[in-house]
Amino acid sequence: MNVSDAEQESPQGKTARESASTLSESMMPDQLNHHGNVFGGEILALVDKCGGVVARRHARHPVVTVAVDRVEFREPIYATDYVEAHGRLVYVGRSSMEVMVTVEAEQVETGKRRCTNVCFLTYVALDRFNGRPSPVPPLILETDEDRRLHAGAIRRRERRLAEEAEARAAE
Ligand SMILES: CC(C)(COP(=O)(O)OP(=O)(O)OC[C@H]1O[C@@H](n2cnc3c(N)ncnc32)[C@H](O)[C@@H]1OP(=O)(O)O)[C@@H](O)C(=O)NCCC(=O)NCCS
Repeated sequence: MNVSDAEQESPQGKTARESASTLSESMMPDQLNHHGNVFGGEILALVDKCGGVVARRHARHPVVTVAVDRVEFREPIYATDYVEAHGRLVYVGRSSMEVMVTVEAEQVETGKRRCTNVCFLTYVALDRFNGRPSPVPPLILETDEDRRLHAGAIRRRERRLAEEAEARAAE
């Protein structure tokens, strides 16, 4: 097995706290939709960038996005809102990592914050030389919250594998 630098550096694993990241953005007029609210694609880009930072911090390797499990736009984000994406790892496989990204919109004048989106994205760490999936440090589950989110990730993974098997059987 190809043992990555990251695995050698952290053979016992790393916690979700070590890679948790926040990206924030003040939206500009070219990022709005026809209704004058923030365009959904801009939010998706922020979410993917935030998740990618989390995965790279854990792996200390280049990463690519392989799946976006679910995206819901619960509420509009207004042009004047300040938008923050908070990402944290919830699952780590051999080379894959699932990141939960929560988006918050803050009305700057009042400080009122709304959670507008929760998304789950999967990234794969790549070997710098051959571009193939590369092993990453295991995830250390420290808290009850870590264990709860990890259990949810396992359920999503099982559901996805069952759906893939069903799709193959139908081909
Ligand atoms: C990432 C990539 C190299 C993986 O290649 P692959 O031949 O599928 O590799 P594997 O089958 O060994 O899978 C590698 C890991 O990805 C996971 N994976 C692959 N497809 C997945 C999917 N749709 N959802 C979740 N995990 C997935 C596998 O479960 C495996 O996880 P593990 O190592 O933790 O067990 C290839 O899928 C790829 O290049 N995809 C394009 C990525 C991209 O361009 N993204 C957009 C721009 S960043």
